[in-house]
Amino acid sequence: MNKGLFIVIEGIDGSGKGTQSKRLKSWLTDKNKHATTHSVFHTMEPTGGKIGVLLRNALKDGTIAPKILALLFAADRIEHCKEIEQHLEEGKIVISDRYLYSSIAYQGSQGVDKEWIMEINKFSLIPDIVFYLDITPESGLKRIFSRAKSYEHLKNEQKERDYLEKIDSLEKVRKNYLKLADENPFFVTINAEKTRKEVQGSIRKVMGRLLKAGKTSNDKDLRYFL
Ligand SMILES: Nc1ncnc2c1ncn2[C@@H]1O[C@H](COP(=O)(O)OP(=O)(O)OP(=O)(O)O)[C@@H](O)[C@H]1O
Ligand SMILES: [Mg+2]
Repeated sequence: MNKGLFIVIEGIDGSGKGTQSKRLKSWLTDKNKHATTHSVFHTMEPTGGKIGVLLRNALKDGTIAPKILALLFAADRIEHCKEIEQHLEEGKIVISDRYLYSSIAYQGSQGVDKEWIMEINKFSLIPDIVFYLDITPESGLKRIFSRAKSYEHLKNEQKERDYLEKIDSLEKVRKNYLKLADENPFFVTINAEKTRKEVQGSIRKVMGRLLKAGKTSNDKDLRYFL
């Protein structure tokens, strides 16, 4: 039986998954701030493993069919879950930046059947909590573009079309995430439009409650505690 906790951070591009998952790790490992005895393992998808690297190249290529991407993500996740399980068995808190729900939200938005995605991922571990960072595609992309200092893109017509297309596709991804949040009691929706500090505060509040109650993975009543 797992003694750790499996935490997933999900959300569309630019919602703050990287920022928040790393801040959560720092908070949990800072013994002065929080009295948890768990060590923390931070991870992400796609992984840095062989399939993960293949997948990153397939994503860059841009011409690989969504069904094939879904299969590659599922294959990468088989290796990922093995690693996650080991850490959980050692009693660690595992924080994953993206997981199975990215497959459902993204490949699902490209017309891949949700039931089939679930089927090819049926060996995946179920997380204890998914923090879903909810943000509009406009705000998410604005953050990414300001990071890349490429507001120039709006001056070029082709690039403006690409931008609008991206907004449109992220709108579909967001809808899928909202549906997942609605269907799964272990999803916690966080308003990610707020400042980094406020978003982190909301995440810590839920984590703090869980840790205080001494919840660990596989506690059947965990999802009802939230
Ligand atoms: N709450 C926030 N307010 C303003 N800017 C933010 C906030 N959270 C993150 N950012 C900034 O927005 C950018 C995107 O954040 P981050 O990389 O954490 O998002 P992400 O969800 O991991 O994105 P991606 O899906 O592209 O990997 C970064 O430059 C980050 O510093
Ligand atoms: Mg990121």
